[in-house]
Amino acid sequence: MTGLNQIGVPTHFIRRLNMREQLVRACEIIPLEIVVRNYAAGSISTRLGIEEGQQLPRPIVEYYFKDDKLGDPMVTEEHIAAFGWASQQDMDDVLSLALRVNDFLSGLMLGVGIRLIDFKIEVGRIYDGDFQRLVVADEISPDSCRLWDINSGRKLDKDVFRRDLGSLTDAYSEVARRLGVMPNEPTQMTKPKLIN
Ligand code: TMP
Repeated sequence: MTGLNQIGVPTHFIRRLNMREQLVRACEIIPLEIVVRNYAAGSISTRLGIEEGQQLPRPIVEYYFKDDKLGDPMVTEEHIAAFGWASQQDMDDVLSLALRVNDFLSGLMLGVGIRLIDFKIEVGRIYDGDFQRLVVADEISPDSCRLWDINSGRKLDKDVFRRDLGSLTDAYSEVARRLGVMPNEPTQMTKPKLIN
């Protein structure tokens, strides 16, 4: 989020307070999950019968309506406009934000030997007096991205959990280490000592 802010992609993020807490701008979430895909995997592979790992002809942006009861169904801009979930101007901004996040994140990951297969973002509306603008909100993490090691193809994302491929902690720690957001050596934790 800090990196996105630095290149002029607005986000809700203000600053990190500690390892667990962040200060963010309150925003009204647009009820869409915005998915950008660079390589086929997951639901697009199932839906269209494309082999996982195949590069797509260009980044493909998809929208899903955020409704757990309905299982977040895929929707088109027709549904979004007809049901008033976002205006056409909003959707122009959403598309632009999604593609800019894709370029930034693809480069960031490539720099640490990771292929960005796809990811999901959410977008929120912020009011500044009479003005309103859309910002990237929620989270960007291995929970919401597909990240494959460039050399080995090893999955470093939530598919490790979804497909029972091993230790999720190891995979996420590997991403954090490569991005420099975690020390290279795991911190030696000692058991708490009983004080008499
Ligand atoms: P999919 O292939 O299951 O449609 O997922 C595409 C990407 O979106 C993948 O990186 C995982 C992410 N995603 C979420 O973060 N939350 C969700 O609820 C879903 C369905 C996908």
